[in-house]
Amino acid sequence: MVQDIDIADLKRITELIYSKYGYDFRNYAMSSFKRRILRITELKNLSIESLIKKLTESPAFINEFLDELTVNVTEMFRDPSFWRVMRDEIIPGILLNHKTFNIWHAGCSSGEEVISMAILLKEMGILNDVSLYATDLDVNILEKAKSATYYAKNMDLNEKNYIRFEGKYSLRDYYKEENGKVIFDKNLLVNTTFRKHDLVMGEIFNKCDLILCRNVMIYFNQTLQNEVLKKFHESLFKYGYLAIGSKESLIWCDVANRFLVANNEEKVYKKIKD
Ligand SMILES: C[S@@+](CC[C@H](N)C(=O)[O-])C[C@H]1O[C@@H](n2cnc3c(N)ncnc32)[C@H](O)[C@@H]1O
Repeated sequence: MVQDIDIADLKRITELIYSKYGYDFRNYAMSSFKRRILRITELKNLSIESLIKKLTESPAFINEFLDELTVNVTEMFRDPSFWRVMRDEIIPGILLNHKTFNIWHAGCSSGEEVISMAILLKEMGILNDVSLYATDLDVNILEKAKSATYYAKNMDLNEKNYIRFEGKYSLRDYYKEENGKVIFDKNLLVNTTFRKHDLVMGEIFNKCDLILCRNVMIYFNQTLQNEVLKKFHESLFKYGYLAIGSKESLIWCDVANRFLVANNEEKVYKKIKD
């Protein structure tokens, strides 16, 4: 088992992934990146040299590696007060000017955030009027998101969050249970397009009225956060909204003066300048 990794080895790994596979982790926050690499060596019982060899010689290993490297922790209605603000302030604000609109979930992980949004929109009676784009770098986690299937034993927290969100019904009304798993109603996702997209290397692919990128930039250093926030600014229509995670900020970034704070507590910003 590897006990520690020096900076030179971390650099070798990031350079190799970049040159061979086109994923750029060079500006990810060093401490969490290092923890994840150590975790992979432990899980797969590999030394650093054998990990580098595997990455060099087995291209098929890259998706499994990325799945372990990225932090996919997520919940339905994570931070329930955020979802109440979405329902009571932000989406009504968008509806003042648009009957139909687009939402981009950037870094959607296994899809709990997208299911939450779909339920919220359904309860507002506007699910059919909204196009959702759910993207992530990690293809394995995207497959999970598409299946909308989760372990029943993990639903307690989601149910509690839904109650705190003050949803209209019960979360159980949206899924059926089979063999220890819950499968959400596929109709919730009829307007959702799932696609692989890398926030670091990828181009902007659409203009949106609302972008949710929560608990993703926390793994980036400030330089990368700045670059990604520029992309979000470009991807938003004027007067569109950007929602970030509770521990994230855009106060110091280059595009900060092009946004207004829409809700300070819940970290929601409104684009006011192109
Ligand atoms: C902690 S999860 C956040 C999930 C959800 N947004 C939430 O707040 O619950 C972070 C997700 O960001 C994704 N991610 C990390 N780097 C990315 C990148 N460069 N491009 C797109 N997604 C990325 C990871 O694969 C992971 O699924």
